[in-house]
Amino acid sequence: MRLDDCHNFQDFRTLAKKRLPSPIFNYIDGAADDEVTHRRNTSAYDDVDLVPNVLAGVENIDLSTTIFGKKIDMPLYLSPVALQRLFHYQGERAVSKAAQKYGTMFGVSSLGTVSLEEISATIDTPKMFQFYFHKDRGLNDNMLERAKAANFDVLALTVDTITGGNRERDLRTGFTSPPKFTPSSLLSYAMKPQWGINYLTKGKFELPMLQDYVDSGTSATVSVGEYFSTMLDQSMNWNDAEQLCSKWNGHFALKGIMSVEDAKRAVDIGCTGIIVSNHGGRQLDGSRSNFDQLAEIVDAVGDKVDVICEGGIQRGTHVLKALSLGAKACAGGRLYLYALAAAGQDGVERALGQYRAELERDMKLMGCTSVDQLSRENLRFR
Ligand code: LAC
Repeated sequence: MRLDDCHNFQDFRTLAKKRLPSPIFNYIDGAADDEVTHRRNTSAYDDVDLVPNVLAGVENIDLSTTIFGKKIDMPLYLSPVALQRLFHYQGERAVSKAAQKYGTMFGVSSLGTVSLEEISATIDTPKMFQFYFHKDRGLNDNMLERAKAANFDVLALTVDTITGGNRERDLRTGFTSPPKFTPSSLLSYAMKPQWGINYLTKGKFELPMLQDYVDSGTSATVSVGEYFSTMLDQSMNWNDAEQLCSKWNGHFALKGIMSVEDAKRAVDIGCTGIIVSNHGGRQLDGSRSNFDQLAEIVDAVGDKVDVICEGGIQRGTHVLKALSLGAKACAGGRLYLYALAAAGQDGVERALGQYRAELERDMKLMGCTSVDQLSRENLRFR
């Protein structure tokens, strides 16, 4: 199988599995406990049907939407994801350029592997910085200042990782950052020698936003679950979020909001957007899917802030369903990560091209020329 054979999300996943050592593939692919929420994040879209209109004159389609005060060319952006240079040596360098090519927003993780400054110097399309609230306040202040100085457009505070999720695949494979080559894991790495050559020869693996402050993740190996549980501040509360929001003094989102109560509170502390998300099912298994929870959150706060539907997206029609319910845009990680692992920048560009083509085709088939024409009138719940 080659990149040319990849026509959809599942194809990229298959190719990624071929290219990656199994601890790394399973880190991306896996989720918490029994992975029920992870599966539901995608299957939820199947419980709603689209009702198209016809004869609408759909030669020209405008897929653009405005989130956090910035226009993006399609209603789908690339969520911040940690450790990208483990998935492909180009990491965020590839993903940021692909996002720029398609005029969409790119999110960079606190646990990113390319510096904010480099990304900012590379692309001029909208950028989000994902913020983990650490115990080390010096680190928190430093990250905030760096994101400001690098002209990031949105700060998104992740609120659903107050402790590590139970990722049993990672326990089984022994996945850590940086990767630990133990007698039991060595074989899985040795089976993918090209990955190993790239890892060893294409520049040192680093976490540039963290490494002046913490050893974990770069010079000390740690699992992501352990990192969340030991480095992040479990006392984080609404006051901390409010203070961060006012210190940032720009577009600010809480990432990982699932309840109406929290959505309303997010508005009260000054958020300009909320990201309805369960962290790709990687934290609390058994929690509701983001799409299932979207309507009630839109009803409560959709007229005051941008509501983003993050998770489970594998198809253009999934995006159209979320927008019909009232989301301003959708976002996801795996939707571009398998493509990154499969073929670096070419892979991500191919995936984004396919999403854009699907969105355009689906809009035409729905009889809509701009995304604001989508509404609940064109949805039926089974
Ligand atoms: C994860 C974090 C790092 O889900 O976002 O693994």
